[in-house]
Amino acid sequence: MKNRIGFWQEEIGLQEEALEMRTEIVRVGQGREAFTPQEEEALLRAGNIIKQGGLVAFPTETVYGLGGDAMNPESARKIYAAKGRPSDNPLIVHICRWADIGLVAERVPEAARRLGEAFWPGPLTMILPKAARVPKETTGGLDTVAVRFPSHPVAQKLIAYSGGYIAAPSANLSGKPSPTSAKYVIEDMDGRIDMIIDDGEVGIGLESTILDLASDMPRILRPGYITQEMLDKLLGKVDIDVTIVEPDSGQAPRAPGMKYRHYAPMGRLVIVEGTSGQVTEYINGHAAENQRAGEKTGVIGTAEVLEQYHADVVKCIGSRKDEETIARNLFSVLREFDDENVTSIYSESFPAQGLGQAIMNRLLKAAGHRIVKL
Ligand code: TXA
Ligand code: MG
Repeated sequence: MKNRIGFWQEEIGLQEEALEMRTEIVRVGQGREAFTPQEEEALLRAGNIIKQGGLVAFPTETVYGLGGDAMNPESARKIYAAKGRPSDNPLIVHICRWADIGLVAERVPEAARRLGEAFWPGPLTMILPKAARVPKETTGGLDTVAVRFPSHPVAQKLIAYSGGYIAAPSANLSGKPSPTSAKYVIEDMDGRIDMIIDDGEVGIGLESTILDLASDMPRILRPGYITQEMLDKLLGKVDIDVTIVEPDSGQAPRAPGMKYRHYAPMGRLVIVEGTSGQVTEYINGHAAENQRAGEKTGVIGTAEVLEQYHADVVKCIGSRKDEETIARNLFSVLREFDDENVTSIYSESFPAQGLGQAIMNRLLKAAGHRIVKL
């Protein structure tokens, strides 16, 4: 199978010739806690691949990760090559026991303990001062390290079997949406890595919340399922990176990866904000105009108003009554549009509170911050 290389992968010089490896694909049960002997055996083998410096893609509760040994500089280099990712972009170190945070980080502040108790295992990544044993290749040259203890049973078992520390970015080619299902990992990574563990679809669908605890005040660098409100409640007030709330601030984001082009579908995505009547009218008007010009239009809409759209391809992102479905469907909907040959895509907008903050952060990135306010 040939990987699909988009224009942004070509821009960063990703070579199709690199796709020479045989990738083993192993299927495991749908996140069940009890593994069959065959699954145990496959996970043990996967762990050994990582111990020997190979790469294995695996499910987590947020998105699929592309794992290598976090303590092996060569593994980090391979991860960057497989993703076509710039090597100044640090990787998250995944652990499977609370105590291991102390082996990855030089200091573990009181706030980290409280956060660990409240949210680990789960979709929260903490940035802490790095311990000397973590190679600079893993942290993209930084003195800090990102640490996460995922709750997914397959991830936990794999981390344990691979020696305790897996460096893993999301398992997509650089620039594409993070994979929320093994089928997207296969699409991006077949031929580039040693193994893919297929556990179907993930639960959350957006990457973990990243909280910087290495400076004076805790600060959110990437919003996620653990919301600002939840963190405020536990720690008092937490800051949020200015680039998340004011994307036009002209400042560089503090999480290096947040500065890159991301999630962008092939068609030109525009977010439309307004009352639902205004939004459908605006989108239908533009779809009709595009049709006259011989172009196809896509719409990302919510269940409540889906039938009111008249466009070539209308995709449902979920219901406004259940924000979690919107989070879970966002990346797959963006990927599906790449098969539709639409030149423009219009999306509804969402209130940027609670989980909506993470949804809008990803949607705005995918749209290159194009938003029409009616
Ligand atoms: O949910 C997730 O976090 C997934 C799953 C696989 O665990 N992983 C993930 O990794 O999203 P990745 O590499 O796609 O995104 C990690 C982000 C990047 O934006 C990176 O720049 C930032 O974390 N990051 C990592 N280490 C950092 C550090 N020391 N300081 C600041 N930002 C850091
Ligand atoms: Mg990523």
